[in-house]
Amino acid sequence: MPSSKPIAQVIRKLTVKGKNVLAADESKKTVTERFERKGIPPTDENIRLYREWIVTTPGLERYVSGIILFKETLEQAGSHGKPFVETLHEKGIVIGVKSDEGLYKPAGWGENITQMESPRKLLETLKRYRETHGVQFTKCRSLFSIGPNTPSNRAIDINGAMMALDALVSLEAGLFPIVEPEVERAGTHTIDQCSSYAIAVYSRLNEKLRQYGAAISDVGIKTNFTVQGADCGGTIPPREVAKMTFQALAKGFGFYGVESISIFFMLSGGLDDLPSGQYLHELNRFVEKGPFAKEKTFMASYSRAMLDKALDVWAGNPRNVEKAQKKLLERAKAFSEARQGRLDVKDYNWA
Ligand code: G3H
Repeated sequence: MPSSKPIAQVIRKLTVKGKNVLAADESKKTVTERFERKGIPPTDENIRLYREWIVTTPGLERYVSGIILFKETLEQAGSHGKPFVETLHEKGIVIGVKSDEGLYKPAGWGENITQMESPRKLLETLKRYRETHGVQFTKCRSLFSIGPNTPSNRAIDINGAMMALDALVSLEAGLFPIVEPEVERAGTHTIDQCSSYAIAVYSRLNEKLRQYGAAISDVGIKTNFTVQGADCGGTIPPREVAKMTFQALAKGFGFYGVESISIFFMLSGGLDDLPSGQYLHELNRFVEKGPFAKEKTFMASYSRAMLDKALDVWAGNPRNVEKAQKKLLERAKAFSEARQGRLDVKDYNWA
């Protein structure tokens, strides 16, 4: 059972049956890259308009329990002056914030290290977000790339420590922490290699969380599906991906121990929307049959799989907003069904 009452309430709201968490927390750099790939001018105003049609999508709250925002978005408002956070509060969508400061590669390391504000400053920032904007949870991400000598033991250790520290500070600020150890899909690695690195990363993070005294029942994990590298070739059936994903999480986070983390938010990691739906569907079906089924929650917290097609429809044109919102809602509905293990892919147009 979660140990602190306010956090238990946030967990209950976020994990409500049939809903998922939308990740709309792309940094300015990431959103700029996405816009440029699609030929949308990455102006500040276009980025604000993008956030606006997302948060104002009619009916979004039917399938989305929470949304992760980029810090800047917390302070922004829609075209009629209503702050985005107010719109979300009215819809009953729980607001979270990306608490890390992005990734950097120290000279000579060649590996991603998660940046964060100093713990004391972060604590103040998060308390202010909670009090001023009604933020209730955080997300801190690390990225581990599979290459000839990576991820190194050093990167696994430092990033595990960064995420555990972020979780601890979030809890101290009264916020539910989600920590995101992402094993990157880019590369030629096999699914077995992905699995063994994932287990190493998850185990270290689990160890750090315990070492630092984070209340395990009050922490959520956001991870990738265990899949082969994007350039590995071949396809693996969704059921097999689900099994490998479950087993990596179970080993890394010690599902078989007395107390283990029980809420998992899956990221899409650049997978298309269709496999992201199929994998989540199969994961929930696999879990239904597997051990400890009732104790674990596997839900989506996608960004690209949820938003990419809608972004294509919008294309930076104000006349397309309604159609883009319909596309977003359609994806949100499909992933809601996937979370319940009852997605029929034939019901949707995935093109
Ligand atoms: O930081 C990454 C997001 O939380 C998830 O994004 O679904 O596009 O991988 P994604």
